[in-house]
Amino acid sequence: MDALDTFGRPLRDLRISVTDRCNFRCVYCMPREVYGREYRFLERRELLSFEEIARVAGVFVSLGVSKLRITGGEPLVRRDLERLVAMLAELDVDLTLTTNGSLLPVKAAALAEAGLRRITVSLDSLDDATFRAMNDADFPVARVLDGIDAARAAGLPVKVNCVVKRGVNDGDVVAMARWFHGTGVTLRFIEYMDVGHTNGWRLDDVVPAAEIIRAIDDELPLEPVEPAYRGEVARRWRFRDGGGELGVIASVTQPFCGDCTRARLSAEGRLYTCLFAVRGHDVRAMLRAGATDEELARDLGAHWSRRTDRYSELRSARTVDLPKVEMSYIGG
Ligand SMILES: C[S@@+](CC[C@H](N)C(=O)[O-])C[C@H]1O[C@@H](n2cnc3c(N)ncnc32)[C@H](O)[C@@H]1O
Ligand code: SF4
Repeated sequence: MDALDTFGRPLRDLRISVTDRCNFRCVYCMPREVYGREYRFLERRELLSFEEIARVAGVFVSLGVSKLRITGGEPLVRRDLERLVAMLAELDVDLTLTTNGSLLPVKAAALAEAGLRRITVSLDSLDDATFRAMNDADFPVARVLDGIDAARAAGLPVKVNCVVKRGVNDGDVVAMARWFHGTGVTLRFIEYMDVGHTNGWRLDDVVPAAEIIRAIDDELPLEPVEPAYRGEVARRWRFRDGGGELGVIASVTQPFCGDCTRARLSAEGRLYTCLFAVRGHDVRAMLRAGATDEELARDLGAHWSRRTDRYSELRSARTVDLPKVEMSYIGG
């Protein structure tokens, strides 16, 4: 049964956050001033168990979801994550994961063996000093590159996400494009978004996708590629010399709400139908009250069919100050 929202958008993707914790403190996501010692992270009993997550994911698949993405916080800090991967792999849909890559050197093989199909690694700069400053955990870039190599060696197709912040890493985009050119790894540049409130976002910090593409095209000529499917968030470009593809996710300068087919489940089991939503729908309460799969499907389908979100298209000076959930909580 396919669920459609009030704008006729089908439900196709589910992003599942498995933890709100992270071993990095990226300046645009979990600034250390906010996520320091005093910050109250979720307690273990508040998190959905792997069994609960797998059950909810199965219900979503019955509603039309064909792609699952595991995220966080940093998903690989949750113990035995490969066990969840194996459970979700049984649903036989596209299964992927977004990670900062720090633990991939030890985890990549087990994740691939458990049935993960693809992986996205976040990497904001190849310059070690810039990278350490952006992750604010003094984590060296070489270890993330080792993680990417480990994922590829395990047979996982790799995408790399790079958030570009003006004056911080915008000088590194051409070097990133050169590094991954011809490797089979697809690089995607992401405009810095006003998710949550803790990162002190300002429009001046956003480097528009068009500017990123222009800078790369000057050195490594590009041509546009048609989208592969409805709801593809990245605008795709191909190196004219056959060196592969890259993408830009222009959620600030070219919002794509009209095609958004994504729902997000937080680590404590709240459902968000928009990255910029304020309140989540409490799925955990239903699960723990003993709802059947049919009851869950009816509830989640009805929730999606009421969906009216299109925040990015409505973004204005006024909406920037509305209460919103944090990226580390909802998982991007
Ligand atoms: C919240 S992270 C969770 C998964 C994992 N910890 C990681 O970093 O890949 C998911 C993605 O969101 C991106 N992200 C976080 N804050 C962002 C922001 N304010 N604007 C744009 N992208 C952001 C990250 O760079 C990452 O690629
Ligand atoms: S972007 Fe990912 S790695 Fe960076 S702080 Fe957020 S959750 Fe952690």
